[in-house]
Amino acid sequence: MPKTLKCDSQLLRKDLSGRVYVVTGANSGTGLATSRQLVRQGAHVVGACRRVSAGETVFADFARLPGSAEIMQLDLASLASVRQFSIDFLGKHKRLDGLINNAGLVTSEGRTEDGFEIQFGTNHLGHFLLTELLLEILKASAPARIVCLSSVVHAGRGSQAVSIDFDDLHYERKPYSAMAAYAQSKLANILHARELAGRLDGTDVTAYSVHPGWIRSNFGAEVMPGWLRGAMNLALRPFSGLLGIMSPEDGAQTTLHCLLDDDAPTHNGAYFSQNSILYPKREHRAGGWPMRSPNPNARGEALAKRLYDVSSELVGLGS
Ligand SMILES: NC(=O)c1ccc[n+]([C@@H]2O[C@H](COP(=O)([O-])OP(=O)(O)OC[C@H]3O[C@@H](n4cnc5c(N)ncnc54)[C@H](OP(=O)(O)O)[C@@H]3O)[C@@H](O)[C@H]2O)c1
Repeated sequence: MPKTLKCDSQLLRKDLSGRVYVVTGANSGTGLATSRQLVRQGAHVVGACRRVSAGETVFADFARLPGSAEIMQLDLASLASVRQFSIDFLGKHKRLDGLINNAGLVTSEGRTEDGFEIQFGTNHLGHFLLTELLLEILKASAPARIVCLSSVVHAGRGSQAVSIDFDDLHYERKPYSAMAAYAQSKLANILHARELAGRLDGTDVTAYSVHPGWIRSNFGAEVMPGWLRGAMNLALRPFSGLLGIMSPEDGAQTTLHCLLDDDAPTHNGAYFSQNSILYPKREHRAGGWPMRSPNPNARGEALAKRLYDVSSELVGLGS
């Protein structure tokens, strides 16, 4: 049975009073579990959610925990919304100890408000702009950490390693593939963390990317009919453990490790992964903190730099 990597239990008792974290997509799945744990340890968590009411409903359960929490509106598929969120956040808060770029979606063909391919635009470009707009407060609050949620899917299957198609980033020429677009966006998350680590060297702000595991969550709901999701849940549930399907709480462990482990900064920019049956080779399936991605493009320095420059242009920050 695949073994879930757990954050050291001592770290989950660390007092986080006075610390402020932003968690995107905090109303569901691993974002909710990460937020709950941080509040349990005394932190203040800002849940950045596109549906404020959904966030407020689930955060109501935090009322008896030692820390505090609030929901602020953020739609990563809109650059205007990302800009508004950062204005609102900076107007309200004087520090930021951790930014968890957790929200994500896999969905059928679509565009963001700004005309980007929906998954690259939401999963990467929205988070890219958010991170840039919050960099100064992260630096001022250092030591601080940035965690970018990626996925094992970034590695690709078979001989074809996933890459970033700069010639057709938004599927204007090639036929659309939801999984290929998702994989490209998740490779971008890894490259983003790697490039941030280099650029932030010496600031005591460190960055990490994470495959959280195969989590029982709402993920993929948009591409799967309800009856199929229900049937899969029923059929797979008895085999969950064998397949390595984990709870959102277990899915939050890698993020929490990257946020809280004293040794994590010695692996600044690295990719951390839970186990996965999806990795092509047995040695990669166990995951690792940190681990070497089987996709050489995930370690491509030139690719990471080019992605950073292109992303800056696309979100209107210039190169
Ligand atoms: N589940 C897995 O097995 C798995 C495996 C590998 C990686 N991951 C990654 O883990 C992360 C969390 O996934 P999860 O399993 O916790 O999924 P989830 O339960 O579906 O949660 C995803 C969160 O992202 C939010 N979101 C989606 N589009 C958004 C937008 N435009 N603006 C702001 N928020 C948006 C969702 O908000 P709404 O509730 O409003 O939709 C939700 O809060 C994702 O980045 C995913 O790629 C998941």
